[in-house]
Amino acid sequence: MKLSKRLNAICNLVNNQNVIADVGSDHGKVVAKLFLDNKINFAYVSDISALSVKKAEDLLVSLNIDKDRYKIIVCDGLKYNDDISGIDLVIIAGMGGYEIIKILSENKIIVKNFILAPNNNEFKLRKYLNKNNYKILCDFVVKDENKFYNIIKVENGKQKLSKLNFYFGKTNFENITQDFKDFLQYEETKTKNIIVKLPKSKIHKCKRYLKLIKKTNKKVERIENDR
Ligand SMILES: C[S@@+](CC[C@H](N)C(=O)[O-])C[C@H]1O[C@@H](n2cnc3c(N)ncnc32)[C@H](O)[C@@H]1O
Repeated sequence: MKLSKRLNAICNLVNNQNVIADVGSDHGKVVAKLFLDNKINFAYVSDISALSVKKAEDLLVSLNIDKDRYKIIVCDGLKYNDDISGIDLVIIAGMGGYEIIKILSENKIIVKNFILAPNNNEFKLRKYLNKNNYKILCDFVVKDENKFYNIIKVENGKQKLSKLNFYFGKTNFENITQDFKDFLQYEETKTKNIIVKLPKSKIHKCKRYLKLIKKTNKKVERIENDR
């Protein structure tokens, strides 16, 4: 099965797990790939949209995945009606950062590990995670078809993060990739384009962000020179 670079990066972060939940599964490709790679034994496959999750079900049926190995659920976030326990990992990918925060803050199921892939507002999500006892294990940017996606793996726990980590992730500084450098370039160009359209009184935030990008570029350069 052919997967996008973003979905492959998400699947690569999954080590062998007994039970996972894929929230907002939609097409179901992540769960399908994890079954095909024998990385999981059981999956809760859920989506707020019955139409979306039907796509996942159709895909799993077409791949002859044993029906006892997954449960299709229509629900908002992790508000599963059944008494569910024993989930080792939750994946929430392809929705906005605020939606992911909402799902996490309303969650009542005890889960240790999460893979989160917000489409936007990753800064807000990192702030939420840091404040609410989620420790970032890895957090990197992937360039897929000229769009940038942040992928964040967390477990329960505390950690100290720098300002740059909140803005630009953690692993991006440990393993500097071309995708990350392209992302910084993209953010710089985007911010400069916004500045020229704004009245002078409203450019402060953008200027501060540009300074941060400059600082990050210097840090990247230093790390690369030290290698
Ligand atoms: C763009 S798709 C992402 C599909 C897949 N996870 C991926 O990363 O490619 C987003 C899916 O999230 C679902 N969704 C949005 N908010 C949700 C929520 N609160 N609970 C469950 N599913 C949600 C949508 O119905 C949609 O099917």
